[in-house]
Amino acid sequence: MSSSDTEDKIQEAIANPQNMGEMADADSVGTVGNPECGDMVRMWLKFDEKDGKKVIDKASFQSFGCQTAIAVASMATEMLKGKTVEEAQELDSKDLSAPLGPLPPMKIHCGEMVEGALRDALKGDDDCEQPTEPSSMAGNTLLGDMNHPAPKSGKLKVVKLDS
Ligand code: FES
Repeated sequence: MSSSDTEDKIQEAIANPQNMGEMADADSVGTVGNPECGDMVRMWLKFDEKDGKKVIDKASFQSFGCQTAIAVASMATEMLKGKTVEEAQELDSKDLSAPLGPLPPMKIHCGEMVEGALRDALKGDDDCEQPTEPSSMAGNTLLGDMNHPAPKSGKLKVVKLDS
């Protein structure tokens, strides 16, 4: 696939971005920023349970950034629907941007931003809700364990922003 094909697909995606906007009933939200270009991506996830597994029911995003990040986030949020948390954790920026074709070197970090936002959201921080139990109890219950799984370490250059 040539880089102009990729460019065309990016233009198509941003002309009609999917799943753009804040999700009011989200279970989790992840935010990353890139200090180099000043862009930021935020992703919301809503989970469901299917055959005893936690699956992504829907995903949405906001991008205060470049067109490539918007295009990748649009593709990624479509791709994530119905995936288990484990399957989503396996996806890297290349997988998430695959429908667009290979990103040019200058734009690789745009896809990494989307991966970073996804990973942050998958950590399961319940930033969207007020805790319903004293925080000292949160790690001592099954619900607390489900809501606060051990973070997965990553090697991304993007940084977590306070939401
Ligand atoms: Fe920084 Fe695309 S130029 S996210």
